[in-house]
Amino acid sequence: MSTRSSSTVCRQPLCRTLPEGKGIAASISRRRPPVTEDPAEELRQLREENARLRAQLEGVREEHRLLRFLVDSLPDFVSYVDRDLHYRFCNRPYAEIAGRAAERVVGMHASEVLGEEALRRIQPHVERALRGELVQYEEYVDYRFGEDQYVDVQYVPRFGPDSEVRGFGVLVRNITAQKKAYEALRQNSANLETRVTERTESLQRLNQRLTRENQARRGAEQALAEQGGQLRLLARKLLEAQETERCNLVRELHDDVGQALTAVRTYAAVIRNQHSSSDDICPRSAQTIMDLSGQLYDSIHRIMCQLRPRALDDLGLSAALQSCIDAAGLEAAGVAVHVRIGKGLERLDETVSIAAYRLLQEALTNVLRHADAGNVWIRVACEKRPKASDSYSREVLEISIEDDGRGLPEGGVQVQRLGLLGIEERVHSVGGDLVIRNRPAGGVFLRALIPVGKGAHDG
Ligand SMILES: Nc1ncnc2c1ncn2[C@@H]1O[C@H](COP(=O)(O)OP(=O)(O)OP(=O)(O)O)[C@@H](O)[C@H]1O
Ligand SMILES: [Mg+2]
Repeated sequence: MSTRSSSTVCRQPLCRTLPEGKGIAASISRRRPPVTEDPAEELRQLREENARLRAQLEGVREEHRLLRFLVDSLPDFVSYVDRDLHYRFCNRPYAEIAGRAAERVVGMHASEVLGEEALRRIQPHVERALRGELVQYEEYVDYRFGEDQYVDVQYVPRFGPDSEVRGFGVLVRNITAQKKAYEALRQNSANLETRVTERTESLQRLNQRLTRENQARRGAEQALAEQGGQLRLLARKLLEAQETERCNLVRELHDDVGQALTAVRTYAAVIRNQHSSSDDICPRSAQTIMDLSGQLYDSIHRIMCQLRPRALDDLGLSAALQSCIDAAGLEAAGVAVHVRIGKGLERLDETVSIAAYRLLQEALTNVLRHADAGNVWIRVACEKRPKASDSYSREVLEISIEDDGRGLPEGGVQVQRLGLLGIEERVHSVGGDLVIRNRPAGGVFLRALIPVGKGAHDG
């Protein structure tokens, strides 16, 4: 058999065996037969002594057979070699793995049984055992007459009465199963480590990707917020430009068209008065011109009122809102109007007043056009409210319009419609918030909260 050593000497206290001559054989008593004059008696005694010795010898043999049986039954390979490395004993498993009968192994030199090369390899261990050390090592053995095995080897030195090492016992145990289990465990833990490393790397990659995506999203959100801000600014400018344009239009209508119509009416009156005969076509035509120019003036006046609520400039917000409600013609359309307009609206600045007026105007037009409502509740009030962000209260203009009509369409409001969008922009442009939703009891609830007072629209 050839061997590959993988371990070292086990440094334990020396194990000493019994001195020679004090073994089992020594326990057989050697009593001398008693001396007698009678030869017949002496023969009888000698026979008795002989029978007793035979019985004792048989006992020793039986004991030896028993020990042999036990050692042969061991799964381990057991042997004993003397100082010269000749086998003195080996059990059956050892002989089998050596490919010989146990009796043949006894007396053979270790180089014959193990092979020269294997003996050279284990030589350092053998030398330690012969120096009296208890040796233990592991190795992988490529047996010629059995399966390759990982084995645990122990050399137990045997001392003589002079404390010299006489030889050593060899105990070889097959540890292939333990080794394989350990190897499988090591492999599993290496696999596990590899998987954990791979998983960690993939998580890191995912994390990096998410971070990049987050950054990109934040960038996009910022760009969107900037665009939104620009759009709101644009909408505010548009609304301001619209108001200015309406003012100019009203002035033009009032100053030019209104005066021209007044002049037409005056000249028509002169013509009518100069041709007083009722048969003449002239006074009748002049009268018609006077009537038409009067109607035209009324129409233009109405348009002017819609373009720029005069009441806002002349009477203040409360009266302007009331005239807006009156002009909407809700009651004529069968809608009961419930109005509560609070005090203190006159001091609000023009931008807020126009926003409030236009909001009410659009909301009431919507009630008339879309709601099919029986009632509309209008509430306008200026009051102090606690600010969510700090402990100071702030003054807020609240405008709410509720109706009990059919409510907003289920699929949502059409995007191409402008009325509600315009209201929203107006309210946002003065720093306010707008809520439009269906009421639980049916109909639409619309409410704007606009901050007013000093510094309300600074930022
Ligand atoms: N009080 C209401 N009751 C029921 N539906 C409403 C009411 N107010 C608005 N709506 C719904 O919301 C939609 C959008 O209103 P919005 O004022 O934006 O547009 P519009 O009135 O249809 O047109 P315009 O742009 O001329 O105002 C309306 O078309 C209508 O379907
Ligand atoms: Mg509308």
